[in-house]
Amino acid sequence: MGLKAVLFDAYGTLFDVHSVALLAEQLFPGQGERLSHAWRDKQIEYSRLVSMSAGEHYQPFWEITRAGLRHAAARLGLALAPEAEERLMNQYRHLSAFAENRGVLTELAARGVTTGILSNGDPEMLAVAVKSAGFEPLLRHVISVHPARRYKTDSAAYALGTAALQLPAREVLFVSSNAWDALGATWFGYTTLWVNRSGAPAEALGPPPHHTGRSLREVLTHFPAKP
Ligand code: LAC
Repeated sequence: MGLKAVLFDAYGTLFDVHSVALLAEQLFPGQGERLSHAWRDKQIEYSRLVSMSAGEHYQPFWEITRAGLRHAAARLGLALAPEAEERLMNQYRHLSAFAENRGVLTELAARGVTTGILSNGDPEMLAVAVKSAGFEPLLRHVISVHPARRYKTDSAAYALGTAALQLPAREVLFVSSNAWDALGATWFGYTTLWVNRSGAPAEALGPPPHHTGRSLREVLTHFPAKP
């Protein structure tokens, strides 16, 4: 398919958003997993809500993430003290990367493939996440949707990726573990890979992603090592 570069989604794809569940479990025994999932769902819901308001009510992803946490805790009936909120937000700032990711990014760099992130995260939170995972030397582009004041799946957000890479979308492999993000990227015109680590059902809206895999290692099959 003539692929020339890879763009990764960040949260959920490179960084494990549910790595906050351990701290959440310490703070709220028996509720860690539930809080982590409710938090993520509300964060994404808020990103869509502000995007649909045509940018007027845009807030950086960090603020949306905090609002999502507050709502999720309230919904589960958990009293979120300011100190607990700060600890959870700080944990979100330094999410763990999935185990295979460093090896895949290192191998892509060795194969001379242009790599980057295209994420809803705002520039500051992305910079901290990338640095604390040690990925700085392995990613040529770290692109935040922030300048567009629109979140994925708005096409203005996806367009920042092709503009930065100076490539047509079909020549870029867009990799996401979020099925909805893979769908939005497919709509935009990227060649897409959905990394379905959890064996989730595919989106019932089409078209399906061009490729599906169970781990980030799948990316390497699209950029063979040069002999
Ligand atoms: C991101 C979120 C959507 O990194 O996971 O863009």
